[in-house]
Amino acid sequence: MESRIPSHIAIIMDGNGRWAEKRGLPRTLGHKEGADVLRKIITYAGRIGVKYLTVYAFSTENWKRSKEEVDTLMFLFKTYLKNEEKNIMKNNVRFLVSGRKDGVRSSLLEAIEKLEDKSKDNTGLILNIAFNYGGRAEIIDAVNSILKLGIENIDEEKFSKYMYNDIPDPELLIRTSGEFRISNFLLWQIAYSEIYITDALWPDFDEKELDKAIQSYNERDRRFGGVKNA
Ligand code: IPE
Ligand code: IPE
Ligand code: MG
Repeated sequence: MESRIPSHIAIIMDGNGRWAEKRGLPRTLGHKEGADVLRKIITYAGRIGVKYLTVYAFSTENWKRSKEEVDTLMFLFKTYLKNEEKNIMKNNVRFLVSGRKDGVRSSLLEAIEKLEDKSKDNTGLILNIAFNYGGRAEIIDAVNSILKLGIENIDEEKFSKYMYNDIPDPELLIRTSGEFRISNFLLWQIAYSEIYITDALWPDFDEKELDKAIQSYNERDRRFGGVKNA
């Protein structure tokens, strides 16, 4: 059977802390390893023809963690932006961030905006990083933008335009580390996404794991509330 590549894949990159703890290492080293895996997966996703890749990097609830862990996550993201700029431009990747600005340092916000702007005309993979992201926050922010503009008669299509980034819904949602929950990710967009959960911890995720998720997606019977095609 020919394998269809989902046009938009979303990933909850979970399990960095457990990966490190299992090795007797600080959790922060798990995050560092996780950032390296993300780099690999972005390249591979672009190569196999994925058009949009949305990855959950930091949730609006992750501020509850220790200052040391939060600081490391912020630092790693900033370093990632600096180190990946060349690769992003070379690979024709368009870089986007979805999330709230509150609480994020201005130097990091500036680095995000700079790379979004620099890569805005790239025509390859669209990489959307969910950072300081919450699905409920996104819906509330959309409602507030709509109210501010005084728009009436909103429908689903119009509402979607007020999400942080106006991109199509993911066909496939992957969560690593074996947890069966959504953790406030893309609540609006995953209405009909196929969900794939793997026990692999994010730092152990690789190209083969992504192939397995896509294979599973290909075996699904997507009905969207209708009936199975005869
Ligand atoms: C995912 O790994 C990364 C973030 C949430 C930032 P975790 O840090 O949640 O790892 P576990 O779930 O504790 O193993
Ligand atoms: C979800 O993972 C957030 C990210 C992967 C960035 P969490 O580890 O924060 O989720 P819970 O706490 O297990 O639900
Ligand atoms: Mg976790």
